Amino acid sequence: MGKIIILDENTVNKIAAGEVVERPASVVKELVENSIDAGADIISVEIRNGGISFMKVTDNGSGMSEDDAAMAFESHATSKIRRADDLGAITSMGFRGEALASIAAVSKVHMLTRTHDSVQGVSITVSGGVPEEVRPAGCPAGTSITVSELFFNTPARYKFLKKDATEAGYIADILNRIALSHPEISFMLTNNGRKVLHTPGNGDLKSTIFSIYGAETAKHLADVDYEDGDIRITGFAGLAEIARSSRVNQSIYINRRYIRNKTVTSAIDAAYSTYLMKNKYPFIVLNISIDPSRIDVNVHPSKLEVKFSNEQDIFRAVYHAVNNALISHSTVRTLHRTEKSGSHGGKAGYGSRGSTVTGARSAGKSSAGMKTYTEINAYGKPSYSQQEFEWVRKELDRKYQEAISGKTRQQDTVGHGHSGKATDAGEKSEKIPSSQDIDYTDGHNSAVFVKDAHDSALGTDHTETDTNVISPDDSRKTDKIETCDMSDSLKLFDNTRIVGQLFSTYILLEGADELFLLDQHAAHERIRYEKLRRAYGEEKPLSQMLLSSVHVDLTGSEYQFAMSETDFFEKLGFTYESFGANSVIIRSAPLLDENTNIRECFTEILDFLMSEGSTDRSLLADRAIYRMACKSAVKAHDRLDEREIWALLDELSALENPYTCPHGRPAIYKIRRYDLEKLFKRIV
Ligand SMILES: Nc1ncnc2c1ncn2[C@@H]1O[C@H](COP(=O)(O)OP(=O)(O)OP(=O)(O)O)[C@@H](O)[C@H]1O
Ligand SMILES: [Mg+2]
Repeated sequence: MGKIIILDENTVNKIAAGEVVERPASVVKELVENSIDAGADIISVEIRNGGISFMKVTDNGSGMSEDDAAMAFESHATSKIRRADDLGAITSMGFRGEALASIAAVSKVHMLTRTHDSVQGVSITVSGGVPEEVRPAGCPAGTSITVSELFFNTPARYKFLKKDATEAGYIADILNRIALSHPEISFMLTNNGRKVLHTPGNGDLKSTIFSIYGAETAKHLADVDYEDGDIRITGFAGLAEIARSSRVNQSIYINRRYIRNKTVTSAIDAAYSTYLMKNKYPFIVLNISIDPSRIDVNVHPSKLEVKFSNEQDIFRAVYHAVNNALISHSTVRTLHRTEKSGSHGGKAGYGSRGSTVTGARSAGKSSAGMKTYTEINAYGKPSYSQQEFEWVRKELDRKYQEAISGKTRQQDTVGHGHSGKATDAGEKSEKIPSSQDIDYTDGHNSAVFVKDAHDSALGTDHTETDTNVISPDDSRKTDKIETCDMSDSLKLFDNTRIVGQLFSTYILLEGADELFLLDQHAAHERIRYEKLRRAYGEEKPLSQMLLSSVHVDLTGSEYQFAMSETDFFEKLGFTYESFGANSVIIRSAPLLDENTNIRECFTEILDFLMSEGSTDRSLLADRAIYRMACKSAVKAHDRLDEREIWALLDELSALENPYTCPHGRPAIYKIRRYDLEKLFKRIV
């Protein structure tokens, strides 16, 4: 007799279940997705012990007839597609007809369901894939599914479960992500009887974000709304203040399905590359709507991955969507004065926001009685609205209560990253303000932009520059920046007077009611970067013939590489040719400062190109441009005369984003006169 046998159905189902049900969070995901497909607008999830012993999902969706209810637990039983052709354009969350069968194969399930037009519902129990009981039952319209003793019959899987709090965290995380893509549905999660999440379900994404991540996040968001052909992208892009050191706060949806996709994340990274410091990842919620026939969701058992018919279109659309949002939110940072109070929470009122709630960086040391400055963005309102203030105050009270009782939220409820933030949202469920109630308005126009004509107190004509530090660029006067009209409206340094240069590094400017502080290197780097990048984009590299060509010796492999990348370098403005064995001679180079070491700049780009391998070319070019900008920018500790400073300011104020260097470091700060007067107690 041969060794091969056909496995029995039970074993087959358990194996198949392994693909769909990895942990309690996958059960919640599948059940909640079914509720969404059933048209529910209220979905509640109740878990105990991280879902391992108990999970219950209740919805007010369509419910099922008795026949459908019995069929639902069969493998490949679905009402969502009819034939293979339907796979070409899936609009529902489910389509495989696998989830309920898989869940039931590895747990004990009890389902109660009733359609809206029947008077009686049905109760079904299934244990380890074996149907136990089907009977009529009285229940509300909709469906409620209880899953207990997950993996009771698959000990190998059970062993790999993490501790309750961690599993609960995964569940909260997955529910947060689903909630973000369905603001019209109210989601509630309770863990061991405690409300962890409650979203308003009022259709407003910002209030959903607020209920999950809190006021601080909701306040630092740029609206994304972009259309390119049949691709529509909406959502919110977080500003630098709420960036994290991992991608934990990034949620990307294609046709409302949460996905992970490298093309999309690379486009986001590229859009943020000059707004964030290295190793910082933005908060982002992006909904990409696209004709379902242009994507394939049937590529991974967990439906977490999608394939696009044209990745490049998606990259471009996401990049522009995010970049436009960021450009329209760029502004000068303000240093606000905060008084450090000895107690927890800080003082309410002016300045308290930075120190207590924002978690923003503090620029000064905080010892008792010492004044510190806390950095917050100028577009924030000077104080909370009453409603936000109430909410924040309650949050602080609660934190305080936890601190004195020695209990943390994580111990009580979820223990997973940011999801803990939502822990208490449910307790104030009725009070969750919608974004209509909260005033998130940006105050940046009034705070920063000065409209009057330039009136330099020094009378210096700074429109003409002939300095060797800052090269004149007439082109910018005629260039129109497509994506924003800031070059016209941004008269950033009108009505300002140069006070001087501080430590040969910072430029001090006096405005009508504020003091500007500019980091000259960061500012100049930004100018150079924008110029080079624009020239690159227009395929007109800012290249100049060198009076004396530069000879560069390379290793064998460097030489090979350099000779194979002449096109890439040419687009950046370098032209060179072979000059004997393993060396090249550079004939022209980008329009860099005359003091720039061309050889060093060239070899640095070559080194990084070789080490980066096959990353996307346009990203590589962008990074090469950073390097060139950095190498040629005026350095800290360079003395600048007045003309040079004005030239710098003039160029800076014409930029799309004058506020940070290309690495995301701030280039400009503002200290308001009001803050200084408070500091010196002229105002109390
Ligand atoms: N909460 C619910 N309300 C109404 N009908 C439901 C609900 N849950 C499941 N069903 C019905 O049971 C069927 C089987 O559900 P199941 O999750 O196993 O498969 P699916 O959702 O069709 O596909 P997938 O395996 O991709 O999730 C669904 O197609 C749907 O008709
Ligand atoms: Mg399903």
